[in-house]
Amino acid sequence: MSEPTAQGGRRIPIVVDCDTGIDDSLALLYAVASSECELVAVTCTAGNVEARQVAENTRAVLELAGRSDVEVALGRETPLARALVTTPETHGPRGIGYAELPPASSPLSPRFGPDLIVEEARRRPGELTLVTLAPLTNVALAVLREPELPRLLRRVVIMGGSYRSPGNTAPTTEWNVACDPEAARVVFEAFAGAGSDGRRIRPIALGLDVTERAKILPEHLARLAAMAGCEPNGSTLGGSTPDGSTSGRSTSGGVNPIVRYLADALRFYMEFHSRYDGFYGAFIHDPLALATALDPTLVRTEPLAVEVELDGRLTTGETVTDWRRTWGRPPNVDVAVEADSVRFMARFVERIGVLAAGRAASR
Ligand code: BDR
Ligand code: CA
Repeated sequence: MSEPTAQGGRRIPIVVDCDTGIDDSLALLYAVASSECELVAVTCTAGNVEARQVAENTRAVLELAGRSDVEVALGRETPLARALVTTPETHGPRGIGYAELPPASSPLSPRFGPDLIVEEARRRPGELTLVTLAPLTNVALAVLREPELPRLLRRVVIMGGSYRSPGNTAPTTEWNVACDPEAARVVFEAFAGAGSDGRRIRPIALGLDVTERAKILPEHLARLAAMAGCEPNGSTLGGSTPDGSTSGRSTSGGVNPIVRYLADALRFYMEFHSRYDGFYGAFIHDPLALATALDPTLVRTEPLAVEVELDGRLTTGETVTDWRRTWGRPPNVDVAVEADSVRFMARFVERIGVLAAGRAASR
C-alpha cells in the first residue's frame, strides 16, 4: 500500500471544524496519528451536541491522544437561522457514546472559531486545508467575513450532503447539511465561479454516497487493539475485567486509554447502526473526510453544480445536484463518487493502532 507524502516533504497544515461526535473524535485521532498532518487548530460548532460540549469533547480527545497543545476554539452555538437539534440517539447524551474521559484541562482559545479560520487562511495564503466535519455554520460565518476565503485556502474537504444516495436525516437529506441548511447554502455558493480565475478552488464534498462505504466492524477494532498489544476492550494482556465487559477498569494489568475509549464510544455507535442500518458496526464518515484531505487519491470526484434546497416541503437541506448539466452552470463542488474504502480502513486501523501503542508505552 502506498502511503501519502507531505507536500514537498513538508507537513500539510489543516484546520478542522467539527461537532465532536463519535466519528469526529475518530477523525481527530486519525489527524494526530498521521505524520504528514500539521494539525493547526480545531474549531467547534453546534451539531451532534451543544457547542460547549463539542469543545469539551474535542479537547478531552486531543488530550487522550497526547496533543493538549492544539488550539481549540469555540464557534457559533446555534445554526444560522434555525433552532439547534442535537443527536443523542446517534452519539450519546454527551457525544462520545458510553465513553468517559477526564475533564479537559487545556484552556479554550480566546479566538472565535470563524475568526480563527479567516486569520489562519490569511496568515498562510494558498497553504491551508480546511476540513469540515459538522454543520457548516462556522465556515459560513468565515466566508461572510472574508469573501476571499475560497482563494486563500489550498483545499477544502467537506463531509456533508447526499448526492446520489438516500439521506440519513430525512429521505433525501444528510445530517450536517440538514442541521444548518442556510449555512451550507452560503458555503456552496461561495465557491460558485471556482476555476474561472484559476485561483478559487472547488471544495471536495464527501456525501453519504461514499462515507457509508467506510464501515468499522468489531474485527477492525480487534486488529487495532492487537497492534496496541491489548484486548479489544482496552485491557492490556492479563488485565481483562472479570465479566469481559468494557465498563469499569480492569482488575489487574493496565488499560490502554485510546483502545478503551474507542471500545466504549464505538459500542454505542455500533448499537445505533445495528438498530437503524441493519449491521453491527458503524459508518465512520468524518475520518474518511479527514483522510481524504491528507490523500485525495482515496476518492474519485466529479465536478458538479450543487445547490442546497431551502424551501422544500419535504426536501429542505437536500444537496440538489445537476448530474446531467441541465442548469448549464459551471461546477462549484467536486463531489466524491467513489472511495477506496479498503485502503482507507487498513490505514485507519494501522495509524490509530500505532498511536494507541505509543500512548500506552508513554504512560
Ligand atoms: C455526519 O453527521 C454526524 O452525525 C457525523 O458526525 C457526521 O459528521 C454524517 O451525516
Ligand atoms: Ca461530525
